[in-house]
Amino acid sequence: MKQLEKLYEGKAKQVVATEDPTRIIIHYKDDATAFNNIKKATIYNKGILSNAISTLIFRHLEAQGIPTHYLDTLNERDQLCRKVQIFPIEVVVRNIIAGSMARHLGMAEGFEPKNTIYDICYKNDDLGDPLMNDHQAVALELATYEELAEIYDLAGRINEVLKELFLKIGIKLVDFKVEFGKTEDGRIVLADELSPDTCRLWDIETGEKLDHDRFRRDLGGVREAYEEILRRLEGCMK
Ligand code: TMP
Repeated sequence: MKQLEKLYEGKAKQVVATEDPTRIIIHYKDDATAFNNIKKATIYNKGILSNAISTLIFRHLEAQGIPTHYLDTLNERDQLCRKVQIFPIEVVVRNIIAGSMARHLGMAEGFEPKNTIYDICYKNDDLGDPLMNDHQAVALELATYEELAEIYDLAGRINEVLKELFLKIGIKLVDFKVEFGKTEDGRIVLADELSPDTCRLWDIETGEKLDHDRFRRDLGGVREAYEEILRRLEGCMK
């Protein structure tokens, strides 16, 4: 598939047009950022690892009946995906309290509530992706109530599939962030990526963090953690 002009450059990925207006290529970079771009670094081969991990997760989700934008993995860094209109909303699903929720509400990390928590944030770098509620999202015309209901339903189904998958490889899925888009024919599908950049993944035995928090919190061993996740996923999907 011939690559044409760059449509968008994000923190960890580029989106590139193709000859087919309904297809895009997502290119995974080695850049790591945190705190709305305040902290930046390049992590050797992170893009390759995230592409490989996201590929395995998207294929697994598709096999479990979750509609996604994913079509094919073209090489170490590029995925062929359906072109979608992204909802400017980040959906965070939390199984265990950590990160910003622990900070905002003065809670200890690691508490496992009985319910699943769904946050939505307005995708807006200038505002620092603020937390918002459904009514605010509808008022800003980011999505309708019906679309939000479908998005929450999909996020919940994704959570169930991924909790089980990660449990099999000795990992607790603490939380994750997903984005959704609308295809040309009006279907809502999972878009963006799912990798240790967008999930919190804790080893069940040791509690070791095997995700982007290693970068955010200066714990070291970022690449090694991503390699470990890939190794375990490959092992369980053989
Ligand atoms: P948070 O606790 O910092 O709100 O993060 C919740 C989850 O969302 C965590 O798995 C990391 C992921 N996330 C992203 O993928 N991108 C982001 O910009 C942020 C803030 C969080």
